[in-house]
Amino acid sequence: MPEPAGPARIALVTGASRGIGAAIARRLAEDGLLVHVVCHSALDAGRAVVKEIEANGGQATLHRADVGDESAVGELVEHVIARHGALHVLVNNAAVIDDQLLALTSTDRWERVLRTNLTGPFLTSRAVLPAMLDQGWGRIINISSNSARTPGPGQSAYAASKGGVEALTRALAVEVGRKGIRVNCVAPGKIRTEMTAAVADRFGPDGDGTRWGLPEDISGLVAFLAGDEADYVQGQTFTVDGGRMVMRGAAGRRSR
Ligand SMILES: NC(=O)c1ccc[n+]([C@@H]2O[C@H](COP(=O)([O-])OP(=O)(O)OC[C@H]3O[C@@H](n4cnc5c(N)ncnc54)[C@H](OP(=O)(O)O)[C@@H]3O)[C@@H](O)[C@H]2O)c1
Repeated sequence: MPEPAGPARIALVTGASRGIGAAIARRLAEDGLLVHVVCHSALDAGRAVVKEIEANGGQATLHRADVGDESAVGELVEHVIARHGALHVLVNNAAVIDDQLLALTSTDRWERVLRTNLTGPFLTSRAVLPAMLDQGWGRIINISSNSARTPGPGQSAYAASKGGVEALTRALAVEVGRKGIRVNCVAPGKIRTEMTAAVADRFGPDGDGTRWGLPEDISGLVAFLAGDEADYVQGQTFTVDGGRMVMRGAAGRRSR
C-alpha cells in the first residue's frame, strides 16, 4: 500500500550527492517537499546530504541509480511512486563532463556523456510522466549549462548534450503543457563544485567581472520553478550566471 502523500509534495533530484544537486535537494526539503536524493557512486556523500536535510527537520531518502540505465531508472521511479502514490517534482541535474577535442573524441566517450546528460533526462522524464499526468500536476526542471551556447574547446559532447537538454525541455513542454505539467530548464554559469574544480583555472578571473557562483545561486530558481507560482512559466531556459554571458558580449563589442 502506498504511504499517503499527505500535504508534502514528492521530489526526485538526480545527482544530489554533491554540488548543485545537493543544494537543490536541501532547498526543496526546506520548502517542505519530501525529497528523494539520487546518487550514482558517492553513496557516503549522498548519506551526508540526507542526514543534513533530516537534521534541519526535512525529509529525504537516498537512492543509488545510474540515470543512463533504463531499468535502474524504471525501478527507481516505480519504487518512489509505489511508496507515496505520487511524484510531483523531477529535477534532472545529474551530468558528467569529459572534455576532449572533437577530433580526438572516441565514440565511446561521446556516447557516455550523451547517455548520462541527455538520455538520462529522457529516461527519467518518461518514467515520471504517467504519475504526473494522472495527478494533472507536475514539474520537470532540467539543468543545462552556459556551455550549450558558449562552449569552450573540447566541449563538443558536453555542449551537444546540454543543447539537447534545452531542446528536450521545449519539446516536452509542448506535449504536456495542457496537462498541468511545467517543464523548464536552468542553465548555470560557472559554479564552484567538484565538477569545475579541475577546470577552475580556465574559468578564473577572465575580465568579465563576474564572481564564481555557488550551488545555492541555482537552487532558489529551481525551487521557484518547482512550485505553484511557476504555473505560467513553460518551456523556458533560464541562464543563471551572474551576468557572465551578457558581460562577455559587451566586452567583445568594446574590444572591436
Ligand atoms: N558546476 C558548474 O559550473 C556547472 C555549470 C553549468 C552547468 N552545470 C550543470 O549542473 C549540474 C550539476 O553540476 P555539479 O557541478 O554540481 O556536478 P558534480 O559536482 O560533478 O556532481 C554531479 C552529480 O551527478 C551525479 N552523476 C554523475 N553521473 C551520474 C549517473 N550516470 N547517474 C546518476 N548520477 C550521476 C554524481 O553522482 P555521484 O557523485 O554519486 O557519482 C553527482 O551527484 C550538471 O547538470 C552540470 O552539467 C554545472
